[in-house]
Amino acid sequence: SYNGLALTPPMGFNDWAGFECNSQMNETLFTKTADQMVSLGLDKLGYDYVNIDDCWMQKDRDANGNLQVDASRFPHGMKWLGDYIHSKGLKFGIYEDAGYYTCQGAAGSYGHFQQDADLYASWGVDYLKLDYCYQQLDQFPGKSQSEVAQIVYTEASQALLNTGRPMEFSESAPAYVCCEGPDFENELTWLYQHGNLWRFGSDIYNAWPSVLENYSEGNTPGLAKWAGPGHWNDADMLEIGNGGLTLTEEQTQMTLWAEMASPILLSTDLSKLTPAELAIVANPDVVAVDQDRLGAQGTIVQSGAGYDVLAKPLAGGDVSVVLFNKGDTAQTVSTTAAAVGLPGGGAPFQVTDLVNKTQTASDGVFSAALAPHATAIYRVHAGGDKHLPIAASASVGTA
Ligand code: GLA
Repeated sequence: SYNGLALTPPMGFNDWAGFECNSQMNETLFTKTADQMVSLGLDKLGYDYVNIDDCWMQKDRDANGNLQVDASRFPHGMKWLGDYIHSKGLKFGIYEDAGYYTCQGAAGSYGHFQQDADLYASWGVDYLKLDYCYQQLDQFPGKSQSEVAQIVYTEASQALLNTGRPMEFSESAPAYVCCEGPDFENELTWLYQHGNLWRFGSDIYNAWPSVLENYSEGNTPGLAKWAGPGHWNDADMLEIGNGGLTLTEEQTQMTLWAEMASPILLSTDLSKLTPAELAIVANPDVVAVDQDRLGAQGTIVQSGAGYDVLAKPLAGGDVSVVLFNKGDTAQTVSTTAAAVGLPGGGAPFQVTDLVNKTQTASDGVFSAALAPHATAIYRVHAGGDKHLPIAASASVGTA
């Protein structure tokens, strides 16, 4: 990538989906989250970012043009918080907006990209999400929305590089910028060149239709090819733990996000995750699919009435296969080795169920009886010559 970072999709926490700007969105939320990421063992699985979203700053800059922290939420300031997060072995992320204001109306970064980047660096920031509300199109007469976005995101990404501090860079186009067809391709070209991840679609919300919507947007034809080490299509945060999804749907969000090589950013009170929810987010075999070093985004290889089959090639030649019952009635979903891109002469295939932790030999037909909204995720190995280790899920404790 342009900055050498994000060789696998970012993992960690972002407060927005679970807390927005409510009264819990304060310093204590982030120190407790950092504590819990360590005490639950999530850090060992790769969850390492503790990211603050909107509402950390005041509406106005100070006399020197610097952003001002909302001291009622963050009484010790951002340097202190960054130091705390780093003391736990974790990384610190922050939020701004490339326009005049953030989406919640606080001071935006436009016109101050370098000044703000220097400020983040002085706080020890490791990750910037740069949103794109309140766009400054009036400053660029004659330019399209997409051209303006390219100019400002390029400038902001250069400002981060200029600090000399490594900071992962999350962009909010194409989600907040227009375009289809050739413009869409062009947009992805510069997003890819100047950032590590980008929001391609809708804001996630705490209900099943939202999971389905972001999943569908993530499978927009032509999108998957932009994913790879250093640059990722961001399907937005996980809603696991927030009460709007059934346990089956929570497993499905985790499975689909891993198959799509999306960032995995939890957004809930980690201390309230049930053991079953913790087992979902801390399943090392599913995390390994997301974090696979080849960095391919899984794509839909087969579809039918109310179901999809996805395949994600993995480093070393195995394939992660997801069978997804999108519908509201139970059904059995089946696919074949050929459909998921495995070699015809590969039988017997060794099929590892990454959720149920079973292994079976297969002649090349993979199927699962699936409840409504359920998925199965298999790691399939051609040749049957290798016993695939199933990682122990017992490495995860309770708070
Ligand atoms: C936008 C983004 C969200 C969140 C909010 C904060 O809606 O898409 O992810 O950052 O702004 O205001």
